[in-house]
Amino acid sequence: MDVRKIKFRDIIDLKNEDRPRGHLTPIESAMDIPFEIKRIYYITRVPENTVRGFHAHKKLNQVLICLNGCVTIKVSTPNEEKTFILDNPSEGLYIGTGLWREMYDFTPAAVLLVLASEYYSESDYIRDFDEYCKYVAEPKGEEG
Ligand code: TYD
Repeated sequence: MDVRKIKFRDIIDLKNEDRPRGHLTPIESAMDIPFEIKRIYYITRVPENTVRGFHAHKKLNQVLICLNGCVTIKVSTPNEEKTFILDNPSEGLYIGTGLWREMYDFTPAAVLLVLASEYYSESDYIRDFDEYCKYVAEPKGEEG
């Protein structure tokens, strides 16, 4: 993986209906987000002062949507970092492959929905920041 090719992605504005009857946000796989969804999961009831994440993925692409409450996401490469505050259920944060992420400042009722491009695989994780820096510095083929 060439670190110069790792791209920070920004917020995707999801189309939504905000009507007197309430707010509806539909998401269609590969149409509203840039990949086919193979897995979804959600993070809830995170205790105060908890930091989650601390990893990168070799292949996985994700979109994070905070359905309720608020959470802060820090996305990094070895050279730079960007912080996003998610508090709008009509916004998705796209985190592409090869980015390090940390998630913190969950409000007590925060609900973080994650749409993922792959099934769960522990071998896709890099959980050590030094190892991550080495991984992105290594030249790799198209598959990397
Ligand atoms: P992890 O992705 O490390 O959570 P976070 O980055 O939010 O801190 O996952 C925590 C645990 O849950 C880990 O042991 C793997 C397991 N897990 C699954 O079994 N399936 C999944 O789809 C995910 C995301 C995690």
